[in-house]
Amino acid sequence: MPEPILSVQNLVKHFPVRQGVLFKRTVGHVKAVDGVSFELQPGETLGVVGESGCGKSTLAQVLMRLEEPTAGAATFEGRDIFKLRGGELRRMRREIQIVLQDPYTSLNPRMTVGDIVGEPFEIHTEVAPKGSRPKKVQELLEVVGLNPEHINRYPHQFSGGQRQRIGIARALALRPKVIICDEPVSALDVSIQAQVMNLLGDLQTEFGLSYVFIAHDLSVVRHLATRVAVMYLGKIVEIGTEDEIYERPSHPYTQALLSAVPVADPEVRGQRQIIRLEGDPPSPLDPPSGCRFRTRCWKAQDICATEEPPLQPRTDGHLSACHFAEVRSVVP
Ligand SMILES: Nc1ncnc2c1ncn2[C@@H]1O[C@H](COP(=O)(O)OP(=O)(O)OP(=O)(O)O)[C@@H](O)[C@H]1O
Ligand code: SF4
Ligand SMILES: [Mg+2]
Repeated sequence: MPEPILSVQNLVKHFPVRQGVLFKRTVGHVKAVDGVSFELQPGETLGVVGESGCGKSTLAQVLMRLEEPTAGAATFEGRDIFKLRGGELRRMRREIQIVLQDPYTSLNPRMTVGDIVGEPFEIHTEVAPKGSRPKKVQELLEVVGLNPEHINRYPHQFSGGQRQRIGIARALALRPKVIICDEPVSALDVSIQAQVMNLLGDLQTEFGLSYVFIAHDLSVVRHLATRVAVMYLGKIVEIGTEDEIYERPSHPYTQALLSAVPVADPEVRGQRQIIRLEGDPPSPLDPPSGCRFRTRCWKAQDICATEEPPLQPRTDGHLSACHFAEVRSVVP
């Protein structure tokens, strides 16, 4: 195994909930991320999947150092992300980039595309001397499949898919090693989603990028992901290779998510076992004792309320956090 490019150990992010006069009293904590560990190998894509509110974006924000962690550790190329200062922090900020979900709100409407894509050069002047920037921006536009002559246009003059390409061009500007993609295609039409996913796949090959790819739907990440982590209420409940997660899922939550994946082939669709999840996830302010999934799990037993199931090798060897982990093929 090569050295992981990114390694995360027991990462925790709790947001205090304050009340009272001047919000001085802390009345609880939102346990947004609650002990997440994973490794990202160079050149691979780790899919991170789970329902809304399970902590995916918080995880991304903490790794980008946009939020301070409550506890835990993370290293990038062996260096402690949370201890970097000065020049080392600047370097990390160049080498880990993020692409956000909403191309409508994440691009400044009053800036031209050239200024948006070239903005990182203003901060990291060493990457591109001033005179060379317009040419570099045009190259980036071309790399993501946009017309380099449109450098002086504004975001509203582009379609949703094109705007996401602008966001990707901007993320590529500083030649990063890792890109955290936080639901980059969720706001796009299905046909456009495939184009943007293909672009991300091509860029990965061309530039040797590693991706953490966040999505709330398992089907979105399948073609790009080498491995997938499934999150529920701030924790990873199952993590494995693409085959292990899609063909041999052993956690009931993964199985339920898979059974909701859209299937185009009517024959396959007919054979699929539908597992309906009742209700919404409980509040991360007060997660259930033991296994956090127990309030929605059809296999729950007494032990599930008292003992938290560790994320450990089960069944065929991949990690799953269920006392009663059992491989079940959901989509034939
Ligand atoms: N700054 C904050 N202060 C307090 N609570 C927060 C903050 N940011 C996120 N949360 C809470 O943390 C939990 C996780 O939120 P997060 O945005 O990470 O989820 P997510 O998995 O990205 O969801 P989605 O799929 O909707 O984007 C939620 O309950 C959210 O309300
Ligand atoms: S530990 Fe229990 S409640 Fe949790 S997923 Fe497994 S069977 Fe369900
Ligand atoms: Mg999110």
